[in-house]
Amino acid sequence: MSAELAREVKRRRTFAIISHPDAGKTTLTENLLLMGGAIRAAGAVRARGEQRRTRSDWMKIERERGISVSASVMTFEHDDCIINLLDTPGHEDFSEDTYRTLTAADSAVMVLDAAKGIEPQTLKLFEVCRLRDIPILTFINKMDREAQDPMELLDEVASKLALDPAPIFWPQGSGNRFRGMVDLRTDMFTVFRRPQVGDTGPLVHDQIGLSAPDIGSVLTGDELDELRGSAELVQGGYPAFDLTSYREGHMTPVFFGSALRQFGVRELLDGLRDYAPAPRDQKALDKGVETQVHADRDEVTGFVFKIQANMDPAHRDRVAMVRLASGKFQRGMRLKTGSGKQIGVHAPLMFVGQDREITDEAWAGDVIGVPNHGVLRVGDSLSETGQVKFAGIPNFAPEILRRASVKDPLKAKHLKKALESLAEEGVTQLFRPHFGSDLIVGAVGPLQFDVLVERLSAEYGLDVTFEACAYNGVRWISAETATDLEHFADRNRAGMGTDLDGAEVFLAKNAWEIGYVAERFPKIRFTNVRERMI
Ligand code: G4P
Repeated sequence: MSAELAREVKRRRTFAIISHPDAGKTTLTENLLLMGGAIRAAGAVRARGEQRRTRSDWMKIERERGISVSASVMTFEHDDCIINLLDTPGHEDFSEDTYRTLTAADSAVMVLDAAKGIEPQTLKLFEVCRLRDIPILTFINKMDREAQDPMELLDEVASKLALDPAPIFWPQGSGNRFRGMVDLRTDMFTVFRRPQVGDTGPLVHDQIGLSAPDIGSVLTGDELDELRGSAELVQGGYPAFDLTSYREGHMTPVFFGSALRQFGVRELLDGLRDYAPAPRDQKALDKGVETQVHADRDEVTGFVFKIQANMDPAHRDRVAMVRLASGKFQRGMRLKTGSGKQIGVHAPLMFVGQDREITDEAWAGDVIGVPNHGVLRVGDSLSETGQVKFAGIPNFAPEILRRASVKDPLKAKHLKKALESLAEEGVTQLFRPHFGSDLIVGAVGPLQFDVLVERLSAEYGLDVTFEACAYNGVRWISAETATDLEHFADRNRAGMGTDLDGAEVFLAKNAWEIGYVAERFPKIRFTNVRERMI
């Protein structure tokens, strides 16, 4: 392990934002980037001239091919930290995509609308974080609007999420009566002011000690009494912040603010800097032996958590988003997947601020984009030796199943290939019943089918429709012995099939049937999640 590697790892924070639509994720993202100021990754520090050259190289490719790679990750600096913010899709139909992105995050920021508290999508995403023990920082947003009683919000976090809230700041008022917030650790009060016409750049909010002689200029006597009283109450009523408890996923430090008014955003960044974990160990098999890959291991390793399609009909290039799990990556490196595929990474992309550029180096914790022609798929592990296999990225049993049919019957084979390649990208899942030649496509939400129809048409020239089919539920199946599985298959021929990788599935007519067969065949395991190791 080199000292340089250890240092670079230590200053990285890779996180995602989880929230219900409209809570303010987009606004917060924009303001984090703004606050991040010089939007430039130190890992890729270069002479300006060179920077310009690589940037324009990329833009040329982009122009020529009409590629548009939306930002899946935004990298910026805060003090000495390199912050990688992973973007997650807002719509719940793409929740699988969100799940995959969270596998690449070391921590999460949960944004709550101060007037609404915990909403359904927040809860769902929180559960995903809990499954993976992802530590969560809470940001209570929109304090410039009428908010719920902040203590009730904390109680909601405690009761609905079974997470200990530890307020780091405490607000005074909300909406028109919002005055600012006190740092409970230092008693420093940050004064809220609304942005004025003509304000540019990140707003700076004044700070003043609660005991300072001129505190009366920002808080009335009543407000000061109220703030002191409630601060005392929360400090007595909630446990003090404990780093270990947060890192283990039991406690969440709570921040307040208004993303829109750039209030509390810097404090949130400071929280990420001070509390959020640096790149975590990743569970993997190394030469077949279960192990934890430490970020400061010298060998470069990583995994593909997302494929970004560029919608280029002529080249059909794909950018594999690779979360580096260990080592110092250098441009031109050759990496191998767990299944032996080799790839030379000659034009790795980093997503700096809202731009992208070819980078010469990247470190564990960073995300690089690896352009390839469909060689890499979601869940692939990459390493220098090809011996490291990370615990795979799971597939969830889809809730909507449809039969794909193409207008021109001569294109059936073409359709099969296209659906396979889009399933490898993680757009939708693909199942093949043993009986007949139907291709069954599975999705979590209907919007996924819209994306699929569009991409099949634009990239593959296929006019495809998706129709209701005989199946309305699917489970992966397994058993102790092959005989048990054969016995089950014999009795349930109509429902047998395989997924994209050839794993056995049971395709059910409805949810009731799943319960029914599970009861009748106790030796068969029915699961709604499948993790591959590749
Ligand atoms: P999302 O990505 O989580 O879906 O939320 P987004 O940032 O788009 O914010 C949703 C709305 O909430 C936006 O309003 C945005 O301006 C507003 N908003 C975000 N943060 C704050 C805040 O701190 N204070 C206030 N007052 N508003 C905030 P919009 O789309 O412009 O219009 P509308 O929804 O208000 O009609």
